[in-house]
Amino acid sequence: MIAGHRGAASLAPENTLAGFKKALQSGVKWIELDTQLSADNTPIIFHDETVDRCTNGNSRVADLSLEQLQALDAGSWFSKEFSGERILTLEQTLAFFMENDLNMNLEIKIHHAHQVQPLVEKVAKVLAKINFPNEKLIISSFSESALEHCHQVMPDIRLGYITKHNPLPMLEKLKSVNLYSVHLDYKILNQKMAKEIIQAGLKLVIWTLNDLQQASKFRAWGVDMIITDKPDVFAQA
Ligand code: G3P
Ligand code: MG
Repeated sequence: MIAGHRGAASLAPENTLAGFKKALQSGVKWIELDTQLSADNTPIIFHDETVDRCTNGNSRVADLSLEQLQALDAGSWFSKEFSGERILTLEQTLAFFMENDLNMNLEIKIHHAHQVQPLVEKVAKVLAKINFPNEKLIISSFSESALEHCHQVMPDIRLGYITKHNPLPMLEKLKSVNLYSVHLDYKILNQKMAKEIIQAGLKLVIWTLNDLQQASKFRAWGVDMIITDKPDVFAQA
């Protein structure tokens, strides 16, 4: 399976509707995206701690209200063609995914530890409000604490642990969240590690692979999902 990273990060501004549309047009069934809270506690779709790189603004995301965030241009930094692209709420995004029958890998993006509980609780509320199907969702995070909160608040949702390090020493601890998948930086994966993750009963997801030449090796090792900035290249292969 192929998932578009932050939508289709090589084709359109990341984590925007334009990006999700590009990924959809590429033919992928899965999209990875990042969520965090606005200052007034709305889950929005955005990766960085600040709006500086991916908008025309200059501030911490957590210091801006939803209205201030959605007044920013989230497309021009990528190319003029996308000027006027707006930061989305999680709710708007879930609606688009449901309309288009897309699967979502929702990353809970934690920049500071105190954000964990409020973010997870708000995400759970939005998912319940929209009634997003559990079988079309994997929630993932680098933050163990976010995964623990997710498990408490949404026990039926599949959870993925994202890491850049060997995940094997963590797996015993993560049994408490009934972990579904490991989302690994492809650069550190080797065949032995892949085997051990799979033998532990977990799905194996890798990110962010953009070199199609390497895909067959990872598939042979049993990788279940490849997250890529180039869904157009990977989905057609
Ligand atoms: O979810 C996998 C990947 O997106 C994690 O890294 O920094 O791109 O959110 P990042
Ligand atoms: Mg991410």
